[in-house]
Amino acid sequence: MSKVVVFDHPLIQHKLTIMRMTQTGTKEFRELLNEITMLMVYEATRDLPVEDVEIETPMCKCVGKQLSGKKLGVVPILRAGLGMVDAVTKLVPAARVGHIGLYRDPDTHEPHEYYCKLPADAESRELFVLDPMLATGGSASDAITMIKRRGCSHIRLLNLIAAPEGVARVQKDHPDVDIYVAALDECLNDHAYIIPGLGDAGDRLFGTK
Ligand code: PRP
Ligand code: URA
Repeated sequence: MSKVVVFDHPLIQHKLTIMRMTQTGTKEFRELLNEITMLMVYEATRDLPVEDVEIETPMCKCVGKQLSGKKLGVVPILRAGLGMVDAVTKLVPAARVGHIGLYRDPDTHEPHEYYCKLPADAESRELFVLDPMLATGGSASDAITMIKRRGCSHIRLLNLIAAPEGVARVQKDHPDVDIYVAALDECLNDHAYIIPGLGDAGDRLFGTK
């Protein structure tokens, strides 16, 4: 069974509370998503392997550390996952970016695929799938399946807010994928929206409603 890590850092929790508020506008919402993602990535990359490297400072030779092991990649689920990309590429500039386009049918709540483009060497990378919301888990699960079909096997999922139903779905379908979240909320409502959640992440991020 995969692990679920909830980041209860005070800065993350404070910023997330502002994001949840109805009166928080698009500009602030976007900035906060970027800031929280950066804090989450800092924590979620804590176990990346490092190796010794000999360097020369202006003072002397010494041994420093550098990242070793697999190179990183990020795969935002469109649209809302796009709001998390800049934070990762700022911290890990060498990360390659893939995109998966999925939208949830408003009636059935089933995800529909409309785009998939991954880095050419995706299968040799450690991939972070990005999406602010994990509701039923259908979108994340399908996205991970699409990525696995292209030969990738080192995958982590990063969400801002998850519902227990979404976590259970991803753990059942992909027991090898660890899930990192800023909050584990109470439940889903009749329209499969997260309660208390923050509403529609894509619309709030892009100002489309
Ligand atoms: C939202 C969200 C996730 C999905 C979560 O996207 O960003 O991708 O719903 O729901 P699920 O866990 O029940 O699948 P949406 O389909 O609204 O598309 P958008 O980002 O383009 O608005
Ligand atoms: N998608 C969202 O943007 N929010 C939810 O609460 C559920 C799905």
